[in-house]
Amino acid sequence: MCGIIGYLGDREATPVLMDGLKRLEYRGYDSAGVAVLQQGAEMTSVTKSEAKVDLLIAKLQDNMPSGRLGIGHTRWATHGKPTIVNAHPHTDCYGRISVVHNGIIENFAELKQELEAAGHEFVSDTDTEVVPHLIEQYYKGDFLSAVRQALQRIRGAYALAMFSLEDPELLVGARLNAPLVVGIGEGEYFVASDITAIIPYTKKVLILGEGEMAAVTPLGSTVTTLDGLPVEAKVIHVDWDVSQAEKGGFPHFMLKEIQETPEAVSNALRGRLDEDGHVSFMEFNASDQHLRRFEEVRLLGMGTSLHAAMVGENVIEDWAGIPARAQDASEFRYRRPTLGERTLTVVITQSGETADTLVGLRQARDRGSLTVAVTNVVGSTAARDSDGAIYLHSGPEIGVASTKTFIAHLVSQYLLALRLATAHGRVSLERREEIARSLKTLPDEIRRVLANHKEIARLAHHYSRFRNFMYVGRGLNHPVALEGALKLKEISYLHAEGSSGGELKHGPIALLDRDFPVVAICTDCATKEKMISNVHEVVARDAPVLALVSEGDHNLDDLATDVIEVPAADEAASAILSSVVLQLFAYHVAVELGCDVDQPRNLAKSVTVE
Ligand code: F6R
Repeated sequence: MCGIIGYLGDREATPVLMDGLKRLEYRGYDSAGVAVLQQGAEMTSVTKSEAKVDLLIAKLQDNMPSGRLGIGHTRWATHGKPTIVNAHPHTDCYGRISVVHNGIIENFAELKQELEAAGHEFVSDTDTEVVPHLIEQYYKGDFLSAVRQALQRIRGAYALAMFSLEDPELLVGARLNAPLVVGIGEGEYFVASDITAIIPYTKKVLILGEGEMAAVTPLGSTVTTLDGLPVEAKVIHVDWDVSQAEKGGFPHFMLKEIQETPEAVSNALRGRLDEDGHVSFMEFNASDQHLRRFEEVRLLGMGTSLHAAMVGENVIEDWAGIPARAQDASEFRYRRPTLGERTLTVVITQSGETADTLVGLRQARDRGSLTVAVTNVVGSTAARDSDGAIYLHSGPEIGVASTKTFIAHLVSQYLLALRLATAHGRVSLERREEIARSLKTLPDEIRRVLANHKEIARLAHHYSRFRNFMYVGRGLNHPVALEGALKLKEISYLHAEGSSGGELKHGPIALLDRDFPVVAICTDCATKEKMISNVHEVVARDAPVLALVSEGDHNLDDLATDVIEVPAADEAASAILSSVVLQLFAYHVAVELGCDVDQPRNLAKSVTVE
């Protein structure tokens, strides 16, 4: 969703805001803006663009406001089209109070009506604009107190950064159901939607909790509840480095992040898996006895993370023999939950901030279920709100389409399944050792897939002339097919569907013809023969077939239109290797079509609103 940043310190604020917004652009890029308190001039300079951050930067370079306090915003539109007037920052009637916001103010219509009746004039269609006007309404000489009173009236989700002309040394941040961090530098402070915006400046970060506010002055930052009660905020040290959040010579973050997959897998495994397949998680340290209590596992996630959950569901049932169920968190939250103390709830979320997933997590926790978050972001809301956490340690992922973290999620699911299987005594030592060996060789096997890059690009070039695709797989490869289709559609805007091989005949096959290719995952697994039958069926309908097969398997050479060989591996490892192939395929199709791979239209990296 939207990205926000604020700065207070000794440097010129504008370049810091510009740099921060560039780093936050993956959260949304419909429009952008900054407000800087201009020193000496006793006025706030507001600059906005109705398009991406680059346009804003060009405007600022022509006319750079000078000041040491400022806020910036890159928008993913919810209320109101992406126009200049709707771009943030928004101000009060006199331009004294400036506010940037990520989230949705649910009661904005009634507040706006009330404020208009009191004489406030609104210029935008946004929900956000009620915030500066509400603060203005309550302002009696104490900005912080006015902010507090205003926030008491607001319902919904917000991360806010704000300042007032009247208090030139005060930057205020507040959050409710949307993330906000405070960066603590040497004599300078930042507030930001996430850590990536500020890593070039500081690694010391304070993560605001739900319903907390930070008042930042040159003397330090004070955290309170929205009611003003002091909160002891914990400062964490971030181990991401700035080069991880830059392209480093690659044309796109997505390609860089796919290339980082071997390292992401090593990081997800590091210190967790012994040669004998014994698994331990530092931040989720439940004993065997404790884990044996669970009769069921629920896995919640959205989008790519839901596909990882489906893989988890499959291996947990298969290896540990425990009933497992992957659920779309946005649907789960509106159903009558049937889980309880004997359910282990696993929430899968790269960002740790997906609104629907967080609500699902809280509902599960409220029903007495033990919760564990699998996430890439240390200190994220999911990690903080869960009983345990399994961190991916993949480093920042900037490309909007998840790639390396999907793979790290799959590795984490395998480790979790192995942990549960061991605790429940459902896996032999030999099998554990076999799984451990396979997982440990994965980084090298992925490197081999990456080395086949040119061949995948060649096929992508050829297939980019089609407008519709059907991805098909069985077993673990069913969610892999769904994820392959999602990746293609989100970055190339082509129509792509995923189906299980069995389901194909029950409807989707009707779509197929010579212009509707099938991407068939036919690597070695228990259902390979069935997949080959599916390929026969679709070839009989004239559909071109791009088949993924295990290296050395020539069964489909004369049947499929094209074949990509994937290093031979067991089913779990193979699902990962095929996923990397499909990510590269989607990437190259999108590049071929001239799409904006890192910032696909209408999408945002982290969906912090419902
Ligand atoms: C697709 C993608 C999204 C996310 C989804 C959940 O490439 O990245 O589908 O997977 O929005 O996000 P997280 O994992 O942050 O909860």
